[in-house]
Amino acid sequence: MLDQSTTRSSDISAQAVPTQMEEARQGFVSALRKHVMVDLAGEMRADFEQDVKPKHLKKHRSEPATPRDIKKVMEHRTLYRMWSSLRYNAQEMVWASVLDSVERKLPEMIKIARDAAKHNPAGGSLRLSPDLEIPRYVSALDVHLMPGCFHSEHTKDDVAQGAVQAYGGNVFRGGFRHRKGNPGGVGESIAQYMKHAHPEFEPKRILDLGCNTGKNLYPYLDVYPEAEVHGVDVGAPLLRFGHAVASHENLPVHFSQQNAENLDFEDNSFDIVTSSFFLHELPVKSTKAVFAEARRLLRPGGIMIHMELPPNSEVDPYYGFYLDWDTGPNNNEPFYADFRNQDMAALCKESGYGTDKYVQLLVPNYGTFGENNFAAFCNGDMPAPKHGNGASWFVFGSWA
Ligand SMILES: C[S@@+](CC[C@H](N)C(=O)[O-])C[C@H]1O[C@@H](n2cnc3c(N)ncnc32)[C@H](O)[C@@H]1O
Repeated sequence: MLDQSTTRSSDISAQAVPTQMEEARQGFVSALRKHVMVDLAGEMRADFEQDVKPKHLKKHRSEPATPRDIKKVMEHRTLYRMWSSLRYNAQEMVWASVLDSVERKLPEMIKIARDAAKHNPAGGSLRLSPDLEIPRYVSALDVHLMPGCFHSEHTKDDVAQGAVQAYGGNVFRGGFRHRKGNPGGVGESIAQYMKHAHPEFEPKRILDLGCNTGKNLYPYLDVYPEAEVHGVDVGAPLLRFGHAVASHENLPVHFSQQNAENLDFEDNSFDIVTSSFFLHELPVKSTKAVFAEARRLLRPGGIMIHMELPPNSEVDPYYGFYLDWDTGPNNNEPFYADFRNQDMAALCKESGYGTDKYVQLLVPNYGTFGENNFAAFCNGDMPAPKHGNGASWFVFGSWA
């Protein structure tokens, strides 16, 4: 659907306008999540430090030393049980709170996405592969408790999963708009870090793996306007939705439906291969395949750079226990704890990267840290804030 006044396509991300009741519900869910993730989580840590740990010390003459030890003692605590069930329910409610408005506007959104794909007003592209085999780690479960996961299609040219991800994502994050910039998001923070810390590096082609609806790619176009940016994902509805957003924003992003373990791009054809919140959803075997594939795609001097949850070796055991909540049936992310137990440098080495090329750091959240502080951090004059509640991002990877 093209705007009559201009050649700009309509804004797919502004279609599913909630009714007053739906808006109230979404506001409640955002506030509940914040309460669970900030207030209750703080009280739970205090319960551990002030009561659970001293009692354990007295009884066993040692502190619970690993995330698993801590889980064993914490899962009997009333506060943990309340926090855990509220968190689970809030997660389910995130998606439920946007379903009605998405369903109501689905035909219009499908039309906008179809039209964007036909006209490509921003000069990007959308390449779908209906025969792509969806990996079992996506098709066999509802990751993040989102009904239908990332890939399901209920009607022709469906965008529903993309819409639920994007609109639900706003509720999840408490109001960030799904638009260009995604302030403080991972894409913006990593792109700004690369620009500040490596001003001589001028990437010409950038690839985001598991790009979902593509929000992390837009900041790369701000920071590197000359670069060609690509996003791959296995979920067609996400890519259709993302392509429509990019078209509306006049951003030439190239989306394709591919498995990141086996891509159809040429050898040595990218300068940056990146991802965020992606690797922990793969079995470790697949992570190694993705790293090897990224190695094949990178030009000499290019960089593979991933944002992820920090591994256990980088956090205290309590925070390790806290992060691992998402594993298994809690948030349907079965490989989460396994991934966080890996040695990231060793994984890169096994996939063909030189040991001396390994990179690992905390990158401050560009949106909340402030530009001057961020520049000071990149110059080595200021440390990054501690990981937690989006204050900084754990980043690792390797130069090719
Ligand atoms: C948790 S989401 C992360 C999305 C996005 N990168 C972000 O930061 O919000 C993981 C994404 O990876 C995609 N995905 C999972 N396995 C994949 C694979 N083997 N190849 C490509 N995409 C995959 C999923 O469809 C989903 O969109």
